[in-house]
Amino acid sequence: MIKVAILGFGGIAQAAHMPAYRQLEAEGKIKLVAVCDIDPSRFGGNMEINIGGSEEQLLGDDVKRYTAWQDMVANEQFDMVDICVPTFLHAELAIEMLSRGYHVLSEKPMSLRYADCLRMCEATKAADRRLMIGQCLRFGNEYGFLRDAIQNNTFGKPVTGTFRRLSAPPIWGWDNWFMDPERSGGCLLDLHIHDVDIIRCLFGEPEAFTCNTQDVYSKKDLAHSRLYYPDFSILAIGDWSQQGVPFTADYRVGFEKAIVDYAGGVLTVYPRDGEPYTPEWSANNFYTAEIEYFVNLLETGAENTLNPPESAALTVKLINALEKSAACGGEKMKNE
Ligand SMILES: NC(=O)c1ccc[n+]([C@@H]2O[C@H](COP(=O)([O-])OP(=O)(O)OC[C@H]3O[C@@H](n4cnc5c(N)ncnc54)[C@H](O)[C@@H]3O)[C@@H](O)[C@H]2O)c1
Repeated sequence: MIKVAILGFGGIAQAAHMPAYRQLEAEGKIKLVAVCDIDPSRFGGNMEINIGGSEEQLLGDDVKRYTAWQDMVANEQFDMVDICVPTFLHAELAIEMLSRGYHVLSEKPMSLRYADCLRMCEATKAADRRLMIGQCLRFGNEYGFLRDAIQNNTFGKPVTGTFRRLSAPPIWGWDNWFMDPERSGGCLLDLHIHDVDIIRCLFGEPEAFTCNTQDVYSKKDLAHSRLYYPDFSILAIGDWSQQGVPFTADYRVGFEKAIVDYAGGVLTVYPRDGEPYTPEWSANNFYTAEIEYFVNLLETGAENTLNPPESAALTVKLINALEKSAACGGEKMKNE
């Protein structure tokens, strides 16, 4: 059984990771040993974020609470640390935990800069531990359906695609860090990265790209990116300026023989020549699937084929390149 500690007990830890740990604990796969957060009021636990909320009294009495990670590592025995602190702290804390011999699951984005992602990969090798980044869409069945369709050539070759992620501004964060691009990377690195990452996974590395950002609610809180492939291009839209509007994430991919549409939790195939139909698939909770995948990697020593840290690092590299295009007014640039 894998013993887990959570570092940073804010929005994502409470709303998305805790339900997964509860389920895995009930199945006898993990034991949540301790949580650490510099703000002890977070241990009360029922935060609501853009994707939903959590239940009250998430933490059992058997889970130790710490306000400094140094005290947590000095007093507790655990195998893996789940890093859920703000993005600008990911690299240093992940490297610290790896060097102390813990396996690390870190929330996305891996870090603000590609160079720091490479340092995280090096620290993983040096410590002979496992590192995985929470690029959670890779574990969602709605995206798995597309992956299978592309790999099996079910509908022919892709010809167009649009991926969208629209949210209210994330203003629940500690010290309002999301609204500070120096600490969060803005919408481009924080929200838009989900679609850029899954597009890379599905279609490979684009040969060129454009990106435009806009200041609406705060700074850089809207990003439109076009990723160019030899025979088609994919548009990704990220926007966290939409106060009061429910969170939306959807996609529509046009293939030679059909269009696949995912919206409002519903997947529909529209054959270019025939009637629309709902394909066989079942929705899953991709946060739970992601955490279960990492726990299984630790249990079995299996290779991480779905979400290796080197791949998550390349997504940050592409985001850093999109930032350059945006800084040049949306200039089309080669992906080098
Ligand atoms: N995968 C997703 O869909 C998703 C969704 C939301 C957030 N995230 C990511 O999760 C991470 C955390 O986001 P969040 O929404 O939980 O933010 P948050 O501000 O709600 O939570 C972060 C927590 O870290 C704590 N903290 C800050 N510095 C610390 C330190 N040195 N030691 C211990 N605790 C510290 C804060 O007090 C806070 O409770 C970010 O990197 C964010 O991008 C991912």
